[in-house]
Amino acid sequence: MNVDCFETHNFADSTTQNLASQSAPNGEKNPVFNRPDRFIEGWYWAMPCRDLKPGMAKSLTLMGRELVLYRARSRKVVALDGHCPHMGAALAQGQVDGETLRCPLHQWQFNKNGQCIEIPACGDHGTIMESAQLQPWPTAEHYGLIWVWTGDHPSHPPPYVPELAGVDCDVALSYRFERNCHPNVLMINAIDAHHFNSVHNLPLEVRFKAKALNANALCLDNTTRGGEASHFVKVIRPLYQNEVTYKMCYWYGSTGTVTVGPDFFHFHIMFALRPTTGGKTEGWTILITPKRWGGQLMNPMILWITQQVAAYFATGDIQVFQGIRFDFKTPLKADHSILQFAHHTNRQKALNWGDWSSAL
Ligand code: FES
Ligand SMILES: [Fe+2]
Repeated sequence: MNVDCFETHNFADSTTQNLASQSAPNGEKNPVFNRPDRFIEGWYWAMPCRDLKPGMAKSLTLMGRELVLYRARSRKVVALDGHCPHMGAALAQGQVDGETLRCPLHQWQFNKNGQCIEIPACGDHGTIMESAQLQPWPTAEHYGLIWVWTGDHPSHPPPYVPELAGVDCDVALSYRFERNCHPNVLMINAIDAHHFNSVHNLPLEVRFKAKALNANALCLDNTTRGGEASHFVKVIRPLYQNEVTYKMCYWYGSTGTVTVGPDFFHFHIMFALRPTTGGKTEGWTILITPKRWGGQLMNPMILWITQQVAAYFATGDIQVFQGIRFDFKTPLKADHSILQFAHHTNRQKALNWGDWSSAL
C-alpha cells in the first residue's frame, strides 16, 4: 500500500510533539487529548435510566469523583456530591424523601440544589450553616441513559445524532463495555480510514471533511463515492447517488455517533464513553432509530439490524485496543482527520477533579 507522509518540518513534527509529549502549542493551552489526569467539561453518561427507579439513590464514581444520584418521587433525577458535609456518610445509603434526600446517619435533609433544609438535631428553629451544602450537578435523560454535566451550566443538550436533532427516537441500549485505553484513542478508530480495509476487510476509500457543529462537537463526513477499484464498491454504488454515507460526530472527545447506510435508509449508533481513573474507558453502545409510522413492529427489527452493523465495527479490533499504548509518533497524510480530532479535543475546556490524579 502506498501511503503519503507529511513533510517532516511541516506537520509531523509539531503533531508528534502535540500528541506524544502532550505539550501545548498553537494556543492549545491545556491539552486534554489522551490525558489520564484531566477531562473535557461536558455531558457524560452516568447509568441507564431504567436502573434508577423513583425513590432510589445510587452511588456513581464519575471521573474519580463520588456522586449520589437519586430519582425523586416526581421522577426527576438529581445528582449531588456523594458524601454528607456533616460527617461524610455515603448519601447513596440515604433515603429519598419526596424531592429530597436524607443522610443515613443523622438524617440531614438535602434538596435537589444540594441545600440542607433540615437538621433534625437542631429542631425546628435551628440555624443551618452555609457549609451544609452539597455540590449539585445538572442531569438529563436521553437515549436511554442518565447524563451528568460536569460543570455549572450546560452549554448544549446531551450528545445526539446531528441528523436526528429534535427527532423523537426509539433506542436500545446494546451493551456496556470496558477498554484498556483512553476514550479519545477508542474514538479515533471510527475515522482511521486505512484500518477499515486492514482490520475490517472493508475495501472502501474514505476521506473525511470536518465541520464543527459547535465548540464541543465535531462532525466528520465521508466525501468519497467509495473508490474505484473494488468489487464491493461496484455492488453498493447503486445505493448512493453521491458519496457513500459514513458520518461521525464527536462530543467532548468521548462520545461519538455513527450514521451509515444507503441513501434511502440510515442506521444510527452512539458509542457513549467516559474515561476512568488511569485513562481507561467504560462505555455503552446505543442503537437509535426515529419513531415512525408502523414503528412498533418495524423499529425492533431495525434496531436489531443496527446491532449487527455496530457489532461488525466494534468487534474487529477489540484486542488491539486492549493492548495499545497510544504513541502517535509517525502521522501519515491519511491520518489527517485523526489529527483534526485531537486538536479539536485540545481546544475544549479541561477539568481536573480532586482525587482524579491522585488515583493514578
Ligand atoms: S453524616 Fe450526614 S447527617 Fe451526619
Ligand atoms: Fe475498527
